[in-house]
Amino acid sequence: MALGAYVSPIGEPGKRPPLRAQRSLRPATRTVALLGFGTVGRAVAQILCRTPESHLRLTHVFNRSFERKRVDWVPDRVQWTDNFHEVLNSNADTVVELLGGLEPAHEYIRQALISGKSVITANKHVMAKYGPELLELARRHGQQLEYGASVGGGLPVLAALHYGLAGDRLLRACGILNGTCNFILSNMEAKGTSLAATLAEAQKLGYAEADPSDDVNGLDAACKLAIVARLGLRAELNAFEIPRQSIANIQPSDFRYARQLGCTIRQISLAELDGQGVYAAVTPALVPLNSPLAAATDNQNAIIFKGERSGETLLVGKGAGGDPTAVAVVSDLLAIREGPCTPATSLAEKYPVAHLSCPHYLRVSGENGVDVLDALAPILDQHGVALEKSLEHSDKGKREWALTTEACGTGVVRELVRDLAQRERISESPLCLPILNSE
Ligand code: HSE
Repeated sequence: MALGAYVSPIGEPGKRPPLRAQRSLRPATRTVALLGFGTVGRAVAQILCRTPESHLRLTHVFNRSFERKRVDWVPDRVQWTDNFHEVLNSNADTVVELLGGLEPAHEYIRQALISGKSVITANKHVMAKYGPELLELARRHGQQLEYGASVGGGLPVLAALHYGLAGDRLLRACGILNGTCNFILSNMEAKGTSLAATLAEAQKLGYAEADPSDDVNGLDAACKLAIVARLGLRAELNAFEIPRQSIANIQPSDFRYARQLGCTIRQISLAELDGQGVYAAVTPALVPLNSPLAAATDNQNAIIFKGERSGETLLVGKGAGGDPTAVAVVSDLLAIREGPCTPATSLAEKYPVAHLSCPHYLRVSGENGVDVLDALAPILDQHGVALEKSLEHSDKGKREWALTTEACGTGVVRELVRDLAQRERISESPLCLPILNSE
C-alpha cells in the first residue's frame, strides 16, 4: 500500500467511502427535500448533488419563484416547487428547512414532523422560541429534529454540548456567536473600514441575515445564546428578553482606546449561572488581546465553555457563510438514525436574567469642546460607579474621554448612560461597554 493511501472501511482501497459509510456499513438511502435555495441551501445542494456515492438523495427543492433559482447542476430528477404541500405529500423522508425567520418556517417544520418526516434546520429563531415543543413533537411522531447548524455555522457547538460535554455541569458559556459582527469589528479595526461598508461586504459574502439589523443589534446572537444556555446550562431563557446592545455605535476611536487598555472589541454573548439566576447578555465588549476571543477574526465564531469538572473548552472556526453552514447541515443529515428515535428533550428550567458585575469602559465627549471630566465625577458618584482610569483625546476641537470603571452592575451602568445622555454639557450618545477579564 502506498504511503497515505486511503483504505475504505467498506473494503475498496483508494476510494473515499460514501459520507454515511463513516458511521454505518449498510446505509439506507435517505430522500431529502430542501426548503430554501439561498446561500446555505445552494451549498447544501452542491454537497448532495456532487457526492454521487452518498446515500443522501436530493428529491425536492422548494423556493418561492423557483424558476429564477434553477441551476443546471441539479439533476433533472429533482423536483422544483413553490408549493409546500407537494413536499409534504412527497416520498422525501427528511425535510431540510433553510428558509430562516419565524414563520412560515416554524409551521412547515411542525407539519413535516406531523406527517412523519425528520427535519434538519439551521433556524435559530425557531429553535430559540419553539425548540422544546418541536423536539417533543418530533419524539411523539417518532422522528428526529436536528439543529446543529443553528449555532456556530460550521463549528460543532451543539454537538460538543450534546455529546462531548454532556457529562459535566456547565457554569458558563462566553463567546462570539455572530460571524457578521465579527467580520465587521475585526475589519473595522484591521483595515479602518466603516461599519456600513464592512456590513455590505459581509452581505456580499453571504454571512449576514436577510435582515442584517438582526446581526448588528444582537438578536441573531441572542437566539443562539438561548439555544446554548438551554442545552449547556439547562437554563431556559427568552431570547427576545436577553439584554442586547448594538455594535452600531462603535467608532474607530473606541478601537484606539481599547488598544491603549490592552484590548480589542468583539460582540460577546455570555450566559453564566450565578446561583439565583443566569446572567445573560449580547453586547460589544472590550476583550483582552491575549484572549482567544480576540484572536477570532473575519467570519469566525469562538466559544469558551466552563464546566465544573472539565474546566475551559474552546471551540473556534467559521461561524457564518454557505459552505461551513452546509457542512453542519449535512453532518446532521448523516446523524439521523434509522427508524423511530427519541431526541433529547430539554431538561432546562426557566431562569430570570440577572445582572453581571464587571469593570466597564465609558466613552463621553463634551459639547463644543468643553471639559466634562469635572462634571462627570459627581454623576458617577451619584450612581455609585467608581472611576478607575481616564484617557483623553482631543481632535479638531472635539474633546473625548475614555474612562474605565471599577466593577459595577450592568443595570447600574444602563441607568448611568441614560442619565449622561440627558446632560447638557455632554455631546453625542455616551458609549459604555463591559470589559471581559483575561482569565
Ligand atoms: N448571520 C449569521 C451570522 C449567519 O453572521 O453569524 C450564521 O448563523
